[in-house]
Amino acid sequence: MDLRLRLLAPVITLLAFASGAPAAAPTGDPVKLGFFMSITGRDASFGEAALRGARLAVDDLNAAGGILGRPVELVVEDNRSLPGESATAAKKLITRNKVVALIGECASSRTLEAAPVAQAAGLPLVTPASTNPKVTAVGDCIFRVCFADPFQGAVLATYAWKNLGLRRAALLIDSTAPYSVGLAEVFAQTFTALGGAIVASQKYSGGDKDFRAQLTAIRATRADALFLPGYYVEAGLAAQQSRELGLRATLLGGDGFEAPQLIEIGGAALEGTVYSTHYSAESQDPASRRFVAAYQARHGSAPVGLAALTYDSVQLVADAAHRAGTTERVALKKALAATRDFPGITGRTTLNDQRDALKDAAIITVRGGRCVFTDSVRP
Ligand code: PHE
Repeated sequence: MDLRLRLLAPVITLLAFASGAPAAAPTGDPVKLGFFMSITGRDASFGEAALRGARLAVDDLNAAGGILGRPVELVVEDNRSLPGESATAAKKLITRNKVVALIGECASSRTLEAAPVAQAAGLPLVTPASTNPKVTAVGDCIFRVCFADPFQGAVLATYAWKNLGLRRAALLIDSTAPYSVGLAEVFAQTFTALGGAIVASQKYSGGDKDFRAQLTAIRATRADALFLPGYYVEAGLAAQQSRELGLRATLLGGDGFEAPQLIEIGGAALEGTVYSTHYSAESQDPASRRFVAAYQARHGSAPVGLAALTYDSVQLVADAAHRAGTTERVALKKALAATRDFPGITGRTTLNDQRDALKDAAIITVRGGRCVFTDSVRP
């Protein structure tokens, strides 16, 4: 492809997608994209949302001519939400399936397992939603399309202090998860720098279901905020158990809270909970509205941020391949690193020197049993 065509390729793809204009059907050997995620097990809600987003992106790409005229195929590996499975999945996708790039994981802990495999192979890995800073620090083959936790933690602490007027925060940390430990650290730093106090720091292990001992200790500190940098299952259970124990602190969390099951698990006990996330399906942006409509038509519900971020991850790889004019790993990695202002569902993606994206954070409040978009914070 000549340079002008290459520069225009993403625009053409987007236009074809936007107008529904027929594109030449892709032909030849498929371009394989490796996808590894928690399709089953504890975090299956994440895997389901991400897979739906990835499949929509692949279908849109194929309807718009594929990648460099070739059909796109998603090769899916399920790590069953278990530790130790993601490196194996990455190896298999690279050596056996011959994928050109990896998309995954959501949980930072599992992306951190697969990233060294991708890095050693020199093959690009794009994570839709792992926010721990160590993830992209693994090397120049690892990219993320979302914000990172130094930003997310600061946003949450500032919102708690300024907008919610909270002054005494207790932390409940999954000491086995880099995401949880890292996000708690940033939150605590920002919150204390603003003048707040961290009155307790309690620990649990991912998969725990009973937080009563930790919550009882927290109750004694008269905390007005309970920051839980964990996932939706723990959030729902901790909310219920807090209420049972008469703990009245406002529950705060990060992007790990966002799942359709959050309210199912926590119910009315979640009322007033505040968390940050990457995207709101209420966005009026035209690309987002088209995505929400397509997702609704297929699945009968609105997409969570993770679905939108995974859609964008797949499109970002396709865009880089079009700019590079090849799916060869070194060229693809260089093109990904040069991503500037890529228009996606979750906003424009520009990757910085650390291969991280700068994106707005959305603040969500649970009100009347619904997760309501409350505010947006710029980086
Ligand atoms: N950011 C979380 C992590 O790094 C994962 C996550 C992202 C979970 C988005 C839910 C939604 O571990």
